[in-house]
Amino acid sequence: MKVTVFGIGYVGLVQAAVLAEVGHDVMCIDVDETKVENLKKGNIPIYEPGLTPLVTKNYEEGRLNFSTDARLGVEHGTMQFIAVGTPPDEDGSADLKYVLAVARTIAQHMTSHKVVLDKSTVPVGTAEKVRAAMDETLKSRGVEIPFDVVSNPEFLKEGAAVADCKRPERIVVGTDNEEVVDLLRELYEPFNRNHDRMILMDIRSAELTKYAANCMLATKISFMNEIANLAEHLGADIEKVRQGIGSDSRIGYHFIYAGCGYGGSCFPKDVQALIRTAQQIGYEPRLLRAVEDINDDQKQKLPQYIARHFGEDLKGKTFALWGLSFKPNTDDMREASSRVLMEELWKRGATVQAYDPEAMDETQRIYGHRDDLRLMGTKEAALHKADALIICTEWQSFRAPDLEFIQQTLNQPVIFDGRNLFDPDRLSRRGFTYYAIGRGASLKQAS
Ligand code: UDX
Repeated sequence: MKVTVFGIGYVGLVQAAVLAEVGHDVMCIDVDETKVENLKKGNIPIYEPGLTPLVTKNYEEGRLNFSTDARLGVEHGTMQFIAVGTPPDEDGSADLKYVLAVARTIAQHMTSHKVVLDKSTVPVGTAEKVRAAMDETLKSRGVEIPFDVVSNPEFLKEGAAVADCKRPERIVVGTDNEEVVDLLRELYEPFNRNHDRMILMDIRSAELTKYAANCMLATKISFMNEIANLAEHLGADIEKVRQGIGSDSRIGYHFIYAGCGYGGSCFPKDVQALIRTAQQIGYEPRLLRAVEDINDDQKQKLPQYIARHFGEDLKGKTFALWGLSFKPNTDDMREASSRVLMEELWKRGATVQAYDPEAMDETQRIYGHRDDLRLMGTKEAALHKADALIICTEWQSFRAPDLEFIQQTLNQPVIFDGRNLFDPDRLSRRGFTYYAIGRGASLKQAS
């Protein structure tokens, strides 16, 4: 099937590569010429396991192509994906200018029926706006060409995007035209083999499904962070509580890890956007507000522990920081807890010696060269002459460190762990002062 994807960002590129891999003929269009040229040379702009070989192979085999020529893109695909960004505007609502610009471009160049699929995370009602923008453009051209607009949200996780896209748990399709369903079945047939993963619904419900999914997951995390804060004061251990409640199959083990706050390109933005949507229709979303507030506070947790241990003034202090990305297996630093932490430490006069397996270049890009940030080549090097170790991201390679080496290398054996990687008793027996999230007993010993 001929497919065009507008927007070679995270979602667009992964979706395009996976569709090409199963045999579709995919053309990706982006306004960024450098990005397009780089992709043709096999230089992938993001780090995502398995993506580079997938893109390169399908490009070389001719099923995946890249261009800046929008007209070419519109001519190419029966299916036209919109996968451009929806950054938050000043008040936190999703900004639709890129989505609507693509809609107009499609209408500008189309000469036959097209199915336009919204892959970007867009507020309820966007499909109608896409339709209106296209209608207007077609009218100005003085032509009448039929088209359909479908909501087809993406649920992939960074770090597992290729795997998620190859084996989706569900394919949500919102349409008001039964006749396009056959085309969508053909498009997604390779992903639908063992059992039907397609969930058909009306357009508005599909649009809301995407926000509801991300907000539910963010709610689980903020809920656990709230319980962690209670555990800390009550002398209980959130890790024990997590196991205790996760074993209830109605609750489950996923997304109940307390920590130093959620980040990334989705949760913070989507919670905020749904709050704005609710307010626009005169509904006060109390739960979503609390989810957001708790998360903002949670990102201050590590700076608070550090102040408790070292005092507010951190001039002359150096901190080893393990983990910069907002979660493991990505170099993405958007809304990462590490950023809030570093900025707090710098405000108080400290120096940060940071290490991350993938996000070093991204950190450099964001913060440039500054005297109070040292990017270190290994996690061991980051410890050198530091006053304490801080952990912000649960990379696998941080889970079983050489405790003796840490103890000998740090000025004092102090660890602030934002991801609860270690057993507090074991660390305390080994002579460490260990601050972790919601681990009441150990925190009492630490302070
Ligand atoms: C999320 C959704 O999972 C995905 O379905 C959607 O399409 C996009 O948004 P992503 O942002 O890649 O994906 O990351 P995810 O793995 O969901 O983690 C988000 C954040 O929550 C991370 O900062 C992570 O550290 C944090 N988190 C996750 C917790 O603090 N505790 C948990 O139990 C789980």
